Amino acid sequence: MSNTLNSIARAMVAPGRGILAADESTGTIGKRFDSIKVENTEENRRAYRDMLFTTKGIGDTISGVILYDETLRQKSADGTSFVDLLNKNGVLPGIKVDTGAKDLALCPGELVTEGLDNLPKRCAEYVKLGAKFAKWRAVITIGADMPSTTCIAANAHALARYAAICQEAGLVPIVEPEVLMDGDHTIERCEQVTEWTLNAVYEALYINRVSLEGSVLKPSMVISGKSCSRQAGVQEVAERTVRILKRTVPAAVAGIVFLSGGQSDELATAHLDAMNKLSGNPWPLSFSYGRALQQPSIKAWRGSAANVAAAQAALAHRGRMNSLAALGRYSSSMENQKQAA
Ligand code: 13P
Repeated sequence: MSNTLNSIARAMVAPGRGILAADESTGTIGKRFDSIKVENTEENRRAYRDMLFTTKGIGDTISGVILYDETLRQKSADGTSFVDLLNKNGVLPGIKVDTGAKDLALCPGELVTEGLDNLPKRCAEYVKLGAKFAKWRAVITIGADMPSTTCIAANAHALARYAAICQEAGLVPIVEPEVLMDGDHTIERCEQVTEWTLNAVYEALYINRVSLEGSVLKPSMVISGKSCSRQAGVQEVAERTVRILKRTVPAAVAGIVFLSGGQSDELATAHLDAMNKLSGNPWPLSFSYGRALQQPSIKAWRGSAANVAAAQAALAHRGRMNSLAALGRYSSSMENQKQAA
């Protein structure tokens, strides 16, 4: 079992490849569809994901796709299941297994992620449906007197219990503690909170017997709060992020794939590239972007079959840019070299 987990985890972070997060819940994809005035129906959600997953050459830059429960059960227009379609293209199917971040009792303004109830049973079904890896997102909010020790401990514990249950079921856990960029906090404060969070997470993983070699970390980057008056530059973000990761994440972890968290698509790519240009990183550093991969594509699509080729070209382009960034070979001048789909 552990050999299988290790090889799946390594495949997820193979050189120049990363993960497409397409696991928006029905509510979250509804928000994305609102922005392009598309109705949030099951068929529109299927058609949108079909457009993404039938992008030619998707497997060249994307190693795995995180799906939502509904999507894992859906089919492409020609009747092929999404799972088979992804496998055919060399892309591993994954599944979001948390059931969302809910209010944390006695800690106003803070959240704890739920979904541990029945998780072994749900994981067993997901394995039967073809999932190879899973994702669980914890949310840490920075604010006055936040995060609390309670919030960090509760989320670290839940992440570790989730990861252990996944490994027992044969799924590689993506461990995602997201420190939110919302707020006017400084990058120094983000660095301090990220270090605290990751230390707590790796202690909890150890206590819960999680095999690090068969796991992948999905952290947020160390960046300035969205409304902070001093916005740190690309090099500073790269240096602070890697410094904290080196202090807290054991080298045994199979790889690190970042979330984009509301950064613009090109900035998320530039940050990843700058981190990979630093020497001496003990783990592969790649991407697991949702918005930063999908934004140009969903804007081009706007719910119309006539726009599928343009939307797929937009996704393929972001895939290429991030693939280069995962190798430390990106430059912003490459953004203009768009190829036809
Ligand atoms: P973003 O890259 O849009 O933050 O999404 C990644 C993700 O999977 C969040 O859980």
